[in-house]
Amino acid sequence: MVERNVEIVSNERDTDLYFRLALRAPEVAHATQPGQFLHMRIPPLREALLRRPFSIFQANGQTVTILYKVVGKGTEALSRMRAGEEVSVIGPLGHGFTVPQPGGATPLLVAGGYGMAAMYLLAERSPQKGMVFVGGKRAEDILCEKEFRALGWDVRVTTEDGSRGEKGIVTQLLPPELRRATRGQKLFACGPTAMLKVVAKIAEEFNVPAEISTDEHMCCGVGVCLTCVIPVRTGDGWEYQRTCTEGPVFDSRNVLWELPA
Ligand SMILES: Cc1cc2nc3c(=O)[nH]c(=O)nc-3n(C[C@H](O)[C@H](O)[C@H](O)COP(=O)(O)OP(=O)(O)OC[C@H]3O[C@@H](n4cnc5c(N)ncnc54)[C@H](O)[C@@H]3O)c2cc1C
Ligand code: FES
Repeated sequence: MVERNVEIVSNERDTDLYFRLALRAPEVAHATQPGQFLHMRIPPLREALLRRPFSIFQANGQTVTILYKVVGKGTEALSRMRAGEEVSVIGPLGHGFTVPQPGGATPLLVAGGYGMAAMYLLAERSPQKGMVFVGGKRAEDILCEKEFRALGWDVRVTTEDGSRGEKGIVTQLLPPELRRATRGQKLFACGPTAMLKVVAKIAEEFNVPAEISTDEHMCCGVGVCLTCVIPVRTGDGWEYQRTCTEGPVFDSRNVLWELPA
């Protein structure tokens, strides 16, 4: 993990407020594990010193790609950058997902909105194909469905307004699937905290393992500032752990959603 200036290869709109940014970064591409992220400095942003974290969506030979949503001034400034310009990245960072083993539990990936970005490498590198459950508010929030299908995964979609797939929220698809299971399954999830909490609850109810990628605000991204900590269960109690270094991926059984009294 080092800091480097990297060139933008392309920065194109995907759907609506979502963009794909490809960076020439062979060392990062080579070292990336599924679920890891980049911490990016966006030079046109006035407070450019504050970096923004983004999951590494794809890593191929010379390039890494992120899939981002414009939500504020950093991502808005990023969306105006062009091929040939440079951003500064630190990465790959964080503790990612465990890649399924041949013959192991069937992987069920659950994603909300840009959470799909954290899932692609996992699906690509998993020797075992499974199912992808993706949800969003509207059709425009459903990202890279075709790419997951092209990898041979079964993709199920929900939207809150019913404009694509089944109407409702993505987690409603899980209980019927888990009930139907004839062999071991394992959940992997990335999305808003409310969604992760439901996934953790369902995993507990059905007694299946789950790895969840947490989405906390980050400052340094490298374990120094402690802005990103969450309470995590340990052998004999609990402790705060850094989502940028011990995470962002945690075993859902260990995440404490509320502080113990
Ligand atoms: C490990 C990790 C991986 C991420 N991967 C992606 C990704 O693949 N694609 C993507 O689009 N985004 C991703 N994010 C979220 C992304 O970092 C934020 O959306 C981004 O930092 C916002 O910057 P901004 O300057 O545009 O927004 P700001 O102007 O800083 O804030 C605008 C709004 O976004 C909210 N916001 C800021 N940071 C976050 C956050 N971490 N989570 C939720 N809301 C936030 C703020 O509260 C505010 O409401 C990830 C975050 C983490 C922690
Ligand atoms: S963001 Fe600074 S310790 Fe995690």
